[in-house]
Amino acid sequence: MDEIIRAAVVGCGMFAAKHLASYKKNPRVELAAVADVDIARAEAAAAEYEAKAYPSVADLLAGEQIDVASVTVPVCRHAEVAQELLEGGVHVLCEKPLTATGKEARRLVELAEEKGRVLTVGYAFRFTDMFATAKRWLEAGRIGRIMMARLHFAHILNKAGRGWYGEIDCGGGIVRESSTHSIDLFRWLVGDVAAVCGQAGTFGEQMTDAEDSAAYLLRSTNGALGVIDVSWATPVSQNRVEIYGADGSIVVDIDQRKATCRTIDGGEEVFSGEPAMAADRVYCEIDLLIDVIAGQAKPLVTAVDGVRAVEVAEAVMKSIKTKRWVQL
Ligand SMILES: NC(=O)c1ccc[n+]([C@@H]2O[C@H](COP(=O)([O-])OP(=O)(O)OC[C@H]3O[C@@H](n4cnc5c(N)ncnc54)[C@H](O)[C@@H]3O)[C@@H](O)[C@H]2O)c1
Repeated sequence: MDEIIRAAVVGCGMFAAKHLASYKKNPRVELAAVADVDIARAEAAAAEYEAKAYPSVADLLAGEQIDVASVTVPVCRHAEVAQELLEGGVHVLCEKPLTATGKEARRLVELAEEKGRVLTVGYAFRFTDMFATAKRWLEAGRIGRIMMARLHFAHILNKAGRGWYGEIDCGGGIVRESSTHSIDLFRWLVGDVAAVCGQAGTFGEQMTDAEDSAAYLLRSTNGALGVIDVSWATPVSQNRVEIYGADGSIVVDIDQRKATCRTIDGGEEVFSGEPAMAADRVYCEIDLLIDVIAGQAKPLVTAVDGVRAVEVAEAVMKSIKTKRWVQL
């Protein structure tokens, strides 16, 4: 594709830097503008990345011809910001989770279809080589029929000190804000989710009314079992995914950026060599999105994947409240 894509980033907080740097680095993209309701933040990002600053999506759309935009605002604002962009004819890469509720997510998917725009969600672990390798091993049948998976994400970072992450009405809480990464990986690697049952706790000091830790069980539609445990309040960070099949296991050690496949015949294959992760995975998701917009590729994360992850998170939250299994 020869045409240069004009990009914008809406929301210039902590995570926006990954999107800004990725658009800036991509030779097929011109990072044209940024927007933030906090205009000082927008102006700081605009100065750093040589773009124009706007105080709102409306002003951005009035002032610029934009092809694609990343949504990097707090979760409770995803739906309204993505809606405004789609209505303005802009393709959207929305940070995860797609929205705060399943109802909002389903509405966005309909809108994207109606407007003929691409809507994708920032489940960037799918773009890492270690998980792509695990996916290839699974598709090649290396470990046979999947029986069980464990997805463990323990983070030292205390997002509780960062405002909306600790507030349930702002889309905060680890189940929805963070564990949707695990839900998406489970759905992608193991299968869609049929039922969940969870518990949550708060161990950090600065949460307003949302949980900072959770553990839950899943059953997939193909009969596999799953365990997801996540925390923002552990004293060390440790992140790891284990998948067990009838003929072997796959372990992705995220911190070591390494994937290992062991089979019952004694075989062992190790993948390591993941490049420095955080910036690259967002770069890769944006690079693919440019191909998708040009009609040259299919999205790796569909809008429907985004909806399902929110629906599963909602079911987990319901299970925590009702202390019962919830079917999807
Ligand atoms: N993929 C990942 O691994 C990952 C990691 C961290 C955060 N995130 C996601 O990135 C998003 C942003 O998180 P963050 O930590 O950068 O948040 P943040 O609070 O640091 O920044 C959000 C910014 O959005 C602005 N904003 C709020 N409402 C707005 C609106 N209506 N229009 C324009 N700007 C608006 C705020 O002023 C703020 O500057 C969230 O969805 C979060 O879940 C993803």
